[in-house]
Amino acid sequence: MSNKTLAIIKPDAVGNGFTGKIIDRIIEAGFKVQAARLIHLSREKAEGFYAVHKERPFYNDLVDFMTSGPCMPMALEKEDAVNSFRSLIGATNPADAEAGTIRKDFAENIQNNAVHGSDSDKNAQKEIAYFYTSNEILDY
Ligand code: CMP
Repeated sequence: MSNKTLAIIKPDAVGNGFTGKIIDRIIEAGFKVQAARLIHLSREKAEGFYAVHKERPFYNDLVDFMTSGPCMPMALEKEDAVNSFRSLIGATNPADAEAGTIRKDFAENIQNNAVHGSDSDKNAQKEIAYFYTSNEILDY
């Protein structure tokens, strides 16, 4: 069980002015934000991040969405970070997400779903390294 996960506040949530509210929820849930930066993903960077979904029918729309405006990838630390963060954000489709979860409160739909969270420790490690060098992850 690892203590890190990658979160992304997605372009819908940034554009809707929810960045601060979402970061508050994350910190109140006991996560430490060890790296965060507002970036506008290139098409290549978004395609690479979601390469595992390349064959899915929603892939092109997903890449369009993720490059439609700035987003905020964050390296988060907490015990059992991957599972804990997935509970905090709720189901992929906000219509199915539990009350009080970030997606229930801030997401627009199954694609524009406000936040990303890594789905395993292995992917968390890979995804954090996709956005941050080890020097940019600050331990405190
Ligand atoms: P995320 O957790 O970032 O992982 C893959 C993303 O693909 C997901 O959040 C959604 O943004 C998007 N996604 C997943 N399933 C669907 C779907 N059925 N239709 C459209 N977008 C989807």
